[in-house]
Order: sequence, then C-alpha cells, then structure tokens
Amino acid sequence: DVSEKVDFLLGKMTIKEKIGQMNQYNGFWDATGPVPDGGDAEEKYEHLKNGLVGSMLSVRGVEAVRAVQKIVVEESRLGIPLIIGFDVIHGYKTLSPIPLAEAASWDLKAIEKSAQVAAAEASASGINWTFAPMVDISRDPRWGRVMEGAGEDPFLGSKIAVARVKGFQGDDLSAVNTIAACAKHFAAYGFSEAGKEYNTVDIGRSTLHNIVLPPFKAAVDADVKTLMNAFNELDGVPATGNAYLQRDILKGKWGFKGFVVSDWASIKELVVWGYAKGNKDAAKMAVLAGSDMDMESHIYIAELEGLVKEGVVDETIIDDAVRRILTVKYELGLFEDPYKYCNEAREKEVINCQKHHDAVLDVAKKSIVLLKNENKLLPLKKKGQNIALIGALANEKNSPLGSWRIASKDSTGVSVLEGMQNYKGNNLVYKKGADVSVGETRFINEIKINTTDRSEFKEAIEEAKKADVVVMVLGEHGFQSGEARSRTEIDLSKIQQELLEEVYKVNKKIVLVLNNGRPLTINWADEHVPAIVEAWQLGTQAGNAIAQVLYGDYNPSGKLPMTFPRNIGQIPIYYNYKNTGRPTSDKENPNLVFWSHYSDVESTPLYPFGHGLSYTTFAYENLSLNKKVFHVNEDVIISVDVKNTGDLYGKEVVQLYIRDLVASTTRPVKELKGFELIELEAGASKTVVFKLDKDALGFYDNNGTFTIEAGDFEIFVGGSSYTDLNTSFEIKE
Ligand code: IFM
Repeated sequence: DVSEKVDFLLGKMTIKEKIGQMNQYNGFWDATGPVPDGGDAEEKYEHLKNGLVGSMLSVRGVEAVRAVQKIVVEESRLGIPLIIGFDVIHGYKTLSPIPLAEAASWDLKAIEKSAQVAAAEASASGINWTFAPMVDISRDPRWGRVMEGAGEDPFLGSKIAVARVKGFQGDDLSAVNTIAACAKHFAAYGFSEAGKEYNTVDIGRSTLHNIVLPPFKAAVDADVKTLMNAFNELDGVPATGNAYLQRDILKGKWGFKGFVVSDWASIKELVVWGYAKGNKDAAKMAVLAGSDMDMESHIYIAELEGLVKEGVVDETIIDDAVRRILTVKYELGLFEDPYKYCNEAREKEVINCQKHHDAVLDVAKKSIVLLKNENKLLPLKKKGQNIALIGALANEKNSPLGSWRIASKDSTGVSVLEGMQNYKGNNLVYKKGADVSVGETRFINEIKINTTDRSEFKEAIEEAKKADVVVMVLGEHGFQSGEARSRTEIDLSKIQQELLEEVYKVNKKIVLVLNNGRPLTINWADEHVPAIVEAWQLGTQAGNAIAQVLYGDYNPSGKLPMTFPRNIGQIPIYYNYKNTGRPTSDKENPNLVFWSHYSDVESTPLYPFGHGLSYTTFAYENLSLNKKVFHVNEDVIISVDVKNTGDLYGKEVVQLYIRDLVASTTRPVKELKGFELIELEAGASKTVVFKLDKDALGFYDNNGTFTIEAGDFEIFVGGSSYTDLNTSFEIKE
C-alpha cells in the first residue's frame, strides 16, 4: 500500500533529500506575478541532479518535461520523480471561460467537464498538478482576481470547488488524463482590504468560518490533493506562517492528508511582512505552521537542514511534509512511470482537439448572463437586418482569452465579429469606434485605459445611424483583470462611455455586450441601453458563444455569481448582508435619516447576485413545505412549481435561500442553500423539490464550531436573490 511504500522510501532518504522534496523551482518565467530575484538556472540544475528539488512549476510541453524529469530520475541518487505544477486556471490551450464566468452558468456538470478538458490537455503536455481551483470568496470587484474565483457566495463557491476538483482529479488520479488539483489561496485572500492586491486582510471569525472557509472544506472533503496558502495576512499573521489555519484547522480539524504549497516566494515575504527576522526565521515559521513545499523562495533548501540540526525544527515535521508530498506522487503513478505524462503522440492528438472546442463552446454559452432585454430587442432577427457592430473588443481575438492562460497562444480566440459573420442573413458592418487601451497590456502595470483617440468615432456613428440594431462590445481587455490588476474605478473607460453615449444619440436600439473579468459599474448603460448581455471573457470559443446567444440559437440561462454595484462607493455590496439594527428601506420611509444607508445612492445593487434573464419568462407558485415545525434532526422538504410562461424553450436556475431569524450570532438576511438548473418547454411546468438538512440550517460559531439552533426560519425561492416568494417554518429542540 502507498503509505508503506512512502515510509520505506523515507527511510532511505537523507535529511537533505527530504528537504529537497519540499523545494519547488520555477522552470522559466511567463506568468503574471513578480519576476523572481536572480533566478539561477545553473543552481537549479545542480539541485535537480542532487535530488534537492521535489517539484518544478511552469515547465510545459512533453519535451521540456521529459528533459527535466530525466535529470532527477537518471542523475539523482534516489531518482524520485518531480511533480510538475502549472497554472491551468481555465483551460490549457483550448480555453474555457474565466472561472467567474463559468460560475455564472451554475451548471456543475458543465464546470466539471471544463476542468476535465483542462486536465486532459495539461496532462498531455507533461503536467500533473494544477494550481486551481481558486476558491477564494470575494465581495470586492476592485480586486482583479475575482475573475479567477466563483464569486461572492460560499454555498455556490463550495459546489463549484467540488465540481472543479472532480473535473481535474477524476475518479482515478493515476489515470493519464487526470491531474492533482490545488485549492487556493488558504485563506481569505479574496478579502484583501479595499480590493488592493497582496493587502492586509482584517475579517472577523464569523466571516472566516462561514464565508471564507466552506469552499476549502468542501474541496478537502472532495479529496483535493493539495492546497496553496496565500499572500495575505489574517489577524496579523501571514497566511504562509499561519498555524491556526494550516495546522489547527486544515490538517487538524479537517484531517487533510495532502500537502500545502506556499504561494510564490511567500515564505520569503514573511520577512517583508515583519513577521520573521530573516530567511532562517521565515523557514522555521512556515514549516512549523504547516507549509509543506516552498515555491520559489529558495529558503527551505537553504535553511531547513540547519534548523533541524540545531533542534529548532523536529525532523518529524519534515517527515510529515515529505510523506504528504511523496504520497501524492505515488497516487499520480509517477513512481511506476515518471514519464507517463510524456507522450508526444497523445500531446498532438489531445491538445486543441475538436471535442475540446465543442466542450468549451458549450460552457461558454452557458456562462452568458442576460442582464436586461427591453421590448425583446434580443434575440436578433436572422435575416434582413442592417447590424452595426461597434467597439474594439468586438474584433479582439486575444482579449476573450482572459487573464491566466499562460500556455495558450495569443489571439486564438474567436472574436465576436467572426462569430456574428457566421450568420449570413444580415448585413453586418464592423467599426472599431475607439480602442479599449493602448498597446500590449499583459506586463504593463499602468494600463493606459484613458486613450483619448476619437478619430474613429465618426465612421462608427455613421454606421450606427443606418443600422436597424447596433451591437456594441465594450468593457475590459482580458489583461485588465487577474493578479495584480486591482482598480479603483470599474466604470467603462471614459472613451468607451463617450462612444456609447454618442452612438445612443443617433440610434437607441443598442445591444451592449460586456466583456469583463469582474462586475462593472454601468449605471448609465442600465438606464438607457435596452439590452445588456454579460459575456465576460469566454475563452477560445467566445465569439461563437456570443453570436449563438445574440441570435437566439442558445437561450441565455446564466445568473450572476457576484453582485453588480451601482457605484464604487457601495463596495463591498453582496446579497447575504446582515440586517443591522436599523434596516428600514427608503421605499417605506423615504424621509428617515438615521438608518443604514447612503444618502446619495439607493441601497440596492444595480444587479443582484443570482440575477439573469432569459428570452422566455418563468413564474413561481405553490411554494410549500412538508410541515411547519421540525425537530433539529429532521429534513425540511420544500417544493415549488416553476412554469415557463413565455413562448420559447428555456432554462432557469431555481434558487433557494433561507434566513435564520434569531441566532447566537447574527445571520444574513438571505443565504443560498440550494439551486437546481431546470429546462422547460414553452408552457410547461415542473415541481422542484429541495431538501434542507442539518448542514444547511446550521452555521459556524466564532470558534469555528458548527451549530444548529432552534428557532424560526424564512425561506425564499425564485430566479434571483431578490425574490420575495417566501414561507416560514420553525425548528424545535
Ligand atoms: O498559482 C499562482 C498563484 O495563484 C499566484 N502566485 C503564483 C502562483 C504560481 O504561478
């Protein structure tokens, strides 16, 4: 059995070799993070030969992986194979939508499938470990990395975490087309203060246990093999050196058996935080806190041996870390065949195959959210129309690929223009109007979004005048969100807003297609533009997916996984807020001053969590419970009838929220506790049944203990978090 093999091997290893397994080096630099100080290829090579490296990241392609694997297997004393990590975030070469977009599908099967595709391609390229899924919950769209997560809700986030772990790891980790997953960033990185990247996090224990940790717990329960810790601190303790998180909760209470990798150089950063006195101290803090593998700090390899010899770090701590790492390597089958992921024929056959393009197109369509559709402007007629397509993003093949797609080739996405050109019955004219940004944005910190070049406005406006319908594709370039892409303004850039307003003056029939990696503040557009489609960055097949939705070949079914604020000052704004002591609403009592609100903007968001329209309509009725009073251990059964009241087939995400009215710590006004994606022909109805068990009705107290308390609950069911259809029940001891 694996543990015997691991112990046998461990018994043969020197302390140096053990620490080597805890050392991870970058192969080259092509990612979106800071460039390492003086990455020394020669030293890395020596370390590989001497068995002092356990993992490489960002080496990709069968040829390169085989070459590096060969060094350790053939030249090091014990020949322990490397685990090869890579940021396979939303696909490898064939790209799925960015994770935030995928979350908008609420379609767990499609999300799992998309991770399967990513795993199949990455593993065919020599990779056997992805640094995904990012399961950080976030309520702050200023933070650029919201594009990489599943949005603001821990329930939806947990379900998606499980789907993605299952997709990557499959049922059999040793299969050649599955790879180890990594739930990251442990923990609370999504709560970086003011949405500023790498910042302090200051949240209370209730938020930590009820909002931040559940998706990690769900991933651990789904047998995720690894976790990555985080760049942020929590309660004054940087996550990498945080024993409460890694030892007490993760490895203690949750019984996690896999290993924890640090984030890039985050062990070294313990010194910069002012938490460790120097590198040696940092190594001690991190290893004692439960960080098993050092990503690119070069500190474990330099310092741990000394610390063990001095008796500061017990060798059993090292053994525990190494055991975890070797176990995953065994489970991947690397000891049986270190080159099992290195097969050129498979690499050729699998990567970019038609099946994968079909799969990412499928999830891309499902990720689109129809935010607004006045007078049924959408779907577009397929024949006899003059359509003006306007906006630089409409002709972009690079931007739709989004951030975090290191392996994919630039400009391999299908543009909206290309997608729409497949529909030949209309007269389609494209005009750029204005750029989104100036120049290459991937590595430039100061993105010049404020281009002022209006020279192409005129011709766009002329075309708009002649058009029956104008389709405008506006928003963010794919590299304007992602790591280190925090922003203090999330409006459309000034030039795009001007273009939109100028076009509106000549033609009000505008369909606005948004491309973005985060919620944007689009008040003006919401007030004026009749149809708005949230199309995120949808990956390789973006343009085809968008065209199919615009022309009604796919009836949109996505729902927002994150609240859209009215303005930046409302942030953080999220659906599961607390009632406060003064929760009155402006509608009920518009002249009241001393209540929880802003005096210059409504309290509601522009678009709430869970919002999303369809080309058909749905009605909800007959919400009922199996009874009104339940014992704590009993399941609550809820049923509701959903009817397709429009004239088209469509899909709807039926959402169930609860409110625990009185509890020992205050509970949110609504909490998502169930959802079901249903499909209905026009005129058809379906009874949807939900079951709420103890897990759904309880919560974590401030010590992190799960508790369920007797009392009154409300239930809300509908097609968004802003549903009013409700009923109530009571739980008795
Ligand atoms: O996986 C990433 C992480 O999310 C951010 N820092 C770098 C890591 C490896 O590229």
